[in-house]
Amino acid sequence: MSKSTGQKNKTQVQWSSPSNIALVKYWGKHGQQLPRNASVSFTLSHAKTTTRITMEDMEGVAYPAVDFTFEGRQQPLFAQRTVKFINGLTDVCFPFLKGKKLTIDTQNTFPHSSGIASSASGMSALSLCLCDLEMQCNGTTIYDAAFYRKASLIARLGSGSAARSVFPGMSVWGYHKDISGSSDDYGISVADDVAPVFKNFHDDILIISDKTKSVSSTAGHQLMDNNPFAQVRYEQAEKNLTQLMIALKTGDLEILGKITEDEALTLHALMMCSNPSYILMEPASLEVINKIRKFRQKTGIPVYFTLDAGPNVHVLYPHEYVAEVKKFIREDLSQHCVNNHIVEDQVGDGPQKLV
Ligand code: DP6
Repeated sequence: MSKSTGQKNKTQVQWSSPSNIALVKYWGKHGQQLPRNASVSFTLSHAKTTTRITMEDMEGVAYPAVDFTFEGRQQPLFAQRTVKFINGLTDVCFPFLKGKKLTIDTQNTFPHSSGIASSASGMSALSLCLCDLEMQCNGTTIYDAAFYRKASLIARLGSGSAARSVFPGMSVWGYHKDISGSSDDYGISVADDVAPVFKNFHDDILIISDKTKSVSSTAGHQLMDNNPFAQVRYEQAEKNLTQLMIALKTGDLEILGKITEDEALTLHALMMCSNPSYILMEPASLEVINKIRKFRQKTGIPVYFTLDAGPNVHVLYPHEYVAEVKKFIREDLSQHCVNNHIVEDQVGDGPQKLV
């Protein structure tokens, strides 16, 4: 369903793809973007990236000539990363890109400065577009499991966590002995293996800081290479994933919540004991975490937190408690956020082909 622009050599595709939030975290990698342990995440709904690529013939270029804009403007840093990624793919996986001009326009539904990682949604949207263009060049348009698997593999090469964003609901990336079909090369959907309570689980993201992260994920992963606790961590992640998959299937919120919180705190503990060390939480992150735990104890409402490699706190809870938890967030937590900023999200249906 690509849009024909009237010229034979011009093809346009557009995809939106969501961000995701990991419950068992990917932290540590090797080789060509291969994970040290398997991870699992909820695919989100509202926080997403939309990318459009227009491809046309261009004579005399070995690598594609890329014209990149982010939200209608030049963005040299994003452009550089995108060009490097696409050039790498042209040699290895996508020779059809040789002799092409690519006009890429991309936008996020969340503000760039909100501190929400955009690499998962950005790289997955871009990869879906590239895989779609490849198919169209081959004269096919079958958006089947093989298509999404390839898109996940390509997305992984751009950013590990992006491998999980191409699937609806919930997905696993990384080989795990108990998860059939799992692979280090690409993510897989595990949406069918989860209890109904998780199909519309909420994730409200408290923006504790909107500053750029003090250490990039890529640098953070590298620090694991010399972290004295790395091996123990990878073994723990494997056990946590085994238990978490059971909790997801049975709908056991208590176990899910305990593992999810342990994973978030472990990720931050690993950064604290890396060399150099980093403290990625802010005082407000800790205040919010303590308040969430007290609220849970007092009310019995199963509300839990997780964090990525930054200070923002993700508040996770089942849909049936939406009124109580949103009131709690509004009255007790929003004061800790930059300009009371909260990104309200929930588990979603995955990427969408728009053109
Ligand atoms: C803490 O996927 O951003 O969010 O592969 O270097 O791009 P790169 O790293 P990235 O790492 C994400 C780490 C995390 C945990 C997770 O999403 O699993």
